[in-house]
Amino acid sequence: MGKLRLGVLASGWGSNLQSIMDAAAAGKIKAEVAVVFSDNNDAFALERARKAGIPARHLNPRNFGSKDECEKALLKLLNEHGVQLVCLAGYMRMVGKVILDAFPNMVINIHPALLPAFPGLCGQQQAWDYGVKFSGCTVHFVDEGMDTGPIIIQAVVPVYDDDTADSLAARILEQEHKIYPEAIGLIAEGRLKLNGRKVFRL
Ligand code: GAR
Repeated sequence: MGKLRLGVLASGWGSNLQSIMDAAAAGKIKAEVAVVFSDNNDAFALERARKAGIPARHLNPRNFGSKDECEKALLKLLNEHGVQLVCLAGYMRMVGKVILDAFPNMVINIHPALLPAFPGLCGQQQAWDYGVKFSGCTVHFVDEGMDTGPIIIQAVVPVYDDDTADSLAARILEQEHKIYPEAIGLIAEGRLKLNGRKVFRL
C-alpha cells in the first residue's frame, strides 16, 4: 500500500503543518504531504512547505466571483497533486460543498478546544474567558457545519490558576502537534470506522 497523499490547507504560522511533515519525514505515518495550500500569500506555512521541498500554492479568494468558483480552482490544484486526504491546519475558512463532495469523509480539521465546546474562532481564548478547568484540542471530520463533524481524537489539558490565554494556548498547541499526525496515521492505515457521528478505532 502506497503512502496516503495529503493536501494541507493552512492560513498562518503552520506549526501543525510542520508536525505533519515531520511525522511523515520520520516515517511515523504512512502519509506524505503532496501539496500545501494557503488562502494567505504571507502565511509562514507556505515557507515551511518550500523549505521541505513540498509544492506551496496560493490562491486569493478575492480574485474569484464566488466561493464555489474559488473551491473549483482549489479542487483542480488538489487533484493535480493526487491529494487523497485534505487536512485543515489552521485554515481560517469554512470548506464548502465543492471540496466536501469531492472528498467524502476525507476532509479533517484540528480545533483548539474540546468540541462541541467553543467552536469557531479563537477556541483557546473562548475557553480561557469562560473559566473552564480543562480544555484541549480535537481532530474531527469536516462537515458543512462550523466544527461540527464526527470526532476522531481529543486531548485534554488542565487550566491552571496562573495561566494566561497565551500559556493555555501553548499547552493546547503541544497536544495538537501530537494528535493531528496520530489521526492522519490512523486514516492512512485504514484503522478508523465511521458509524454515524461515532468514530471507532479498528
Ligand atoms: C491552531 O491552534 C489550530 O488549532 C487553530 O489555529 C492554530 C493554527 O496554528 N485552528 C483554528 O482555530 C481553526 N478554526 P498553526 O498555524 O501553527 O498550525
